Amino acid sequence: MLRVGYPSVLDQKLLSVMPEGIELIPLGDGLEHNAEIDVWIPDPYPTRAMRVWPHLRGVRLVLSLMAGTEWIPGTVGPHVTICNARGAHNISTAEWTISAILAMLKHLPTYVDIQRSGDWRRRSEVTRVYEQLTHDLRQLHPPVKLEELTNKTVLLVGYGSIGKDIERMLEPFRVELIRVARSARTEPRVHAVTELDSLLPQADVVVLILPLTAESHGLIGARQIDLMRQGALLVNAARGGIVQTDALVEGLNANKIRAAVDVTDPEPLPTGHPLWKCPNLLITPHVGGSSPQFGPRSLKIAADELQRYMKGEPLKNVVQAGV
Ligand SMILES: NC(=O)c1ccc[n+]([C@@H]2O[C@H](COP(=O)([O-])OP(=O)(O)OC[C@H]3O[C@@H](n4cnc5c(N)ncnc54)[C@H](OP(=O)(O)O)[C@@H]3O)[C@@H](O)[C@H]2O)c1
Repeated sequence: MLRVGYPSVLDQKLLSVMPEGIELIPLGDGLEHNAEIDVWIPDPYPTRAMRVWPHLRGVRLVLSLMAGTEWIPGTVGPHVTICNARGAHNISTAEWTISAILAMLKHLPTYVDIQRSGDWRRRSEVTRVYEQLTHDLRQLHPPVKLEELTNKTVLLVGYGSIGKDIERMLEPFRVELIRVARSARTEPRVHAVTELDSLLPQADVVVLILPLTAESHGLIGARQIDLMRQGALLVNAARGGIVQTDALVEGLNANKIRAAVDVTDPEPLPTGHPLWKCPNLLITPHVGGSSPQFGPRSLKIAADELQRYMKGEPLKNVVQAGV
């Protein structure tokens, strides 16, 4: 019988989707004995999962409950097949992205500050913020207190599972969308990442939704921020390491860009880090992919993959084929 190890903190009800004919073995992160298993469903939190790994024997397949699996290959080695939960985070992460874009263009973080201060008159601050960021110094009457997303140009860096859902959710805003992935293709038109520098100056909003890899590490640095439009919005829904943090701090403090980031480098962002104090920045502490619907969705993806594995069918979400 196939032995499947899973994090003991998981709600047992979620496991009802698992196929018959397997032995489910709960693994606590304080595991002290070795456990012989065939398939490992690691805890979504890497630090907890990494505490369990040294006690596991016989693992041939890892079924991650997350889309991002960057810590797994280095931990389990090249002989183990790794599948991710492609699709499990799509809705929550895409919704976070749309919310972050709208929050920044509607200056909601500033309005929360104003609400906390209890001073209605401070609302005029947004006009100054808008002028500083965009260098649009026209005498607009009434003055700017919110901006619009409709008809803006959005550059989507990463056009995979989540990127496509972001595109779907952006449709009502009639934005002009520029898509970027590793390689170029048509229908719809997708540009290769090698063209990124020439595309950055065209966008009002740049969304990062690609995996952190050796190639994408530090993809957005001082040069790329410099190429962005004055006052453009950088949204990082992917991984902190894709953006060079020093360059981001500098770009924000110089009022060159604004940003909304769900992920940071380092992460967790230490108390007192300069990023906490940057202007025109919305930080959420890596929550974009989480919602009450996430658990059932990711377990269902893992269960379906396990079914295929047991039937000897090709696996769907392989990120590393064990050698
Ligand atoms: N904030 C959160 O809580 C949260 C939640 C879920 C996921 N994420 C992050 O989002 C990432 C994307 O998830 P997904 O499910 O959409 O992944 P996916 O379906 O595998 O799609 C990844 C996309 O990124 C592109 N890509 C890969 N490397 C690239 C590079 N160096 N330059 C440009 N594009 C590159 C791929 O290009 P090709 O199409 O050409 O292969 C593909 O279009 C995950 O890896 C994870 O790190 C974050």
